Amino acid sequence: MTSEDRAERLRLLQEEASACTSCRLHEGRTTVVFGDGSHDADLMFIGEGPGQHEDEQGLPFVGRSGQLLSTLLERVGLSRPEVYIANVVKCRPPGNRDPRPDEIDACKGYLIEQLRIIDPAVVVTLGNFSTKLLLKTETGITRMRGQIYPWWGRHVVPTFHPAAALRNGPRVVEEMVSDLQLAVSVIEQRPEPVPAEPPEPQQTAMFS
Ligand code: URA
Repeated sequence: MTSEDRAERLRLLQEEASACTSCRLHEGRTTVVFGDGSHDADLMFIGEGPGQHEDEQGLPFVGRSGQLLSTLLERVGLSRPEVYIANVVKCRPPGNRDPRPDEIDACKGYLIEQLRIIDPAVVVTLGNFSTKLLLKTETGITRMRGQIYPWWGRHVVPTFHPAAALRNGPRVVEEMVSDLQLAVSVIEQRPEPVPAEPPEPQQTAMFS
């Protein structure tokens, strides 16, 4: 797919998502927070769902978690425009509660299509929700993080959600830096991807 094709397909998908009413989250949203960054990115980040600032501005990770994410990117020699950032759910859960299994199910098609279009070499999952969705695991992020998981010819590197680092302090920040360095090293080695379609993510019973 050419860069122009990617841009156009993402534009169409965003248009579709902007009108989505597939789950109850559409009722309280200000904007659909589709995703942001380079459609040619080698590295894609997946968070959980928009918070208040993201909902207001229509962009992912623009609040305190986002500021920390930008700092972490700088620490490993990256900038936000070079990567692509999306979330498991595209509309803000009320009061910033966790997204529910049926909401994740309703929204996951958009994420999988984003992954197909951008086709990043490495996906960094931020926290439990995106890690469990992609890697079909019940294991929590503390045990999953810091390792490379093969994922349909690409690679997933789970790390903590930035909100966890904001809550828990410098030790978690340093662990996240180390995980991002690992993700960058995978890109630098440029392993040849095995052509494959990203899978349907697992059913979300594990979130219940
Ligand atoms: N937390 C997330 O998971 N995503 C955002 O976009 C912002 C905060």
